[in-house]
Amino acid sequence: MKREYAVARIEDVPEGKHIVVEVRGREIGVFNVGGRYYALPNACFHQNGPLCRGAISGTVACSAETGWQRRWVQDGEIVVCPWHSLEFNVTTGQCIAYPDRRLPRVEVRVDDGQIRLVL
Ligand code: FES
Repeated sequence: MKREYAVARIEDVPEGKHIVVEVRGREIGVFNVGGRYYALPNACFHQNGPLCRGAISGTVACSAETGWQRRWVQDGEIVVCPWHSLEFNVTTGQCIAYPDRRLPRVEVRVDDGQIRLVL
């Protein structure tokens, strides 16, 4: 059965920042992207690196959608794994290099200024 766990106050995770918390023995990254909160497991599927301790960034896209021109996209939505630099979209869990692979997102609720994770 899932439960809610209060992990931080909203002022602890200002826009553009992220923290790593531990809940029930699991490390989870909590991110503020554009004023919305997201949470991902702190474990990269590549070699189990501490993904959520990586830097926030954007990424370069070059496809038919960009007219095959390199374009900086998703600024502030990408976390870069500190071990081998795989990039993940924080808002979806999707890996940029392997778009068919996604990290499981953890449900986040905000109540009375408190950030809560549901797991
Ligand atoms: S462990 Fe994350 S890219 Fe290798």
